[in-house]
Amino acid sequence: MNLMQKLQQAMPSHVVPYTREQMEQIHQQSVEQTSLAAYEHHQSCKVQAVLGRSGIGKKHLKCSFENYTTANQGQRQAFNVSRRWVSEFFDGMPKNFVFSGSTGTGKNHLACAMANALMARNKSVLVITVAELMLKIRDKYNKASTITEAQFMKYLAEVDLLVLDEVGVQRMNDHEAIMLNSIVDARYTNEKPTGILSNLNVNDLTQVLGERVIERLLESGEWVSFTWESYRRQARNIKGAD
Ligand SMILES: Nc1ncnc2c1ncn2[C@@H]1O[C@H](COP(=O)(O)OP(=O)(O)O)[C@@H](O)[C@H]1O
Ligand SMILES: [Mg+2]
Repeated sequence: MNLMQKLQQAMPSHVVPYTREQMEQIHQQSVEQTSLAAYEHHQSCKVQAVLGRSGIGKKHLKCSFENYTTANQGQRQAFNVSRRWVSEFFDGMPKNFVFSGSTGTGKNHLACAMANALMARNKSVLVITVAELMLKIRDKYNKASTITEAQFMKYLAEVDLLVLDEVGVQRMNDHEAIMLNSIVDARYTNEKPTGILSNLNVNDLTQVLGERVIERLLESGEWVSFTWESYRRQARNIKGAD
């Protein structure tokens, strides 16, 4: 008995094998799906290659939850919110977040710890200052740019985590405000989380981003105030106290 006959014998009588044409059609479909996925992967790799893999600078690449020290109640709370955010993300409940506070309080550290935890599990992240983002969008109008504005906007709308850094440091013009609005909107529609790092308090941030954007961000999001002094000053004071 050959293999085909053996298989036919083993098969229940109601199972009708695919015809050759059906098999070819299935094969063709799977080739098309695979090449579409490969194409999309290639496109997003190209965008990532142009942007740098994650935008996380050298200073923050090593930032993790393990090397974040908690010396006061506020830091402990910020730490807990950030860690919980990661587990909720992987439980399929992505949230937005706003980290507000003065320079050196560890906003980037915790945001990068979150981003690094995502990357460790093959999620895509982009951490970028608003100034840099606007520069890159402007650059995409340039014909020599290797990726189009549409590709870049699609990436911004779809990257698993987008962290906008230094929000409010630079005054935005109307066009830039509209751009930011549409990025936040697109991510909201795609159920992709956005993080905001800013020196501004809630009133000033609302002025800068507009009420609608703030509402969208906080609809399913966490606001964390980083109210302690800068990490380096804190470290100096502790040393000085010895
Ligand atoms: N609680 C902390 N534990 C360990 N390192 C910290 C902590 N807070 C800040 N740092 C470090 O201090 C430096 C400045 O922090 P950063 O996150 O860039 O501040 P921010 O973004 O709020 O201006 C970084 O090198 C960061 O890793
Ligand atoms: Mg910072």
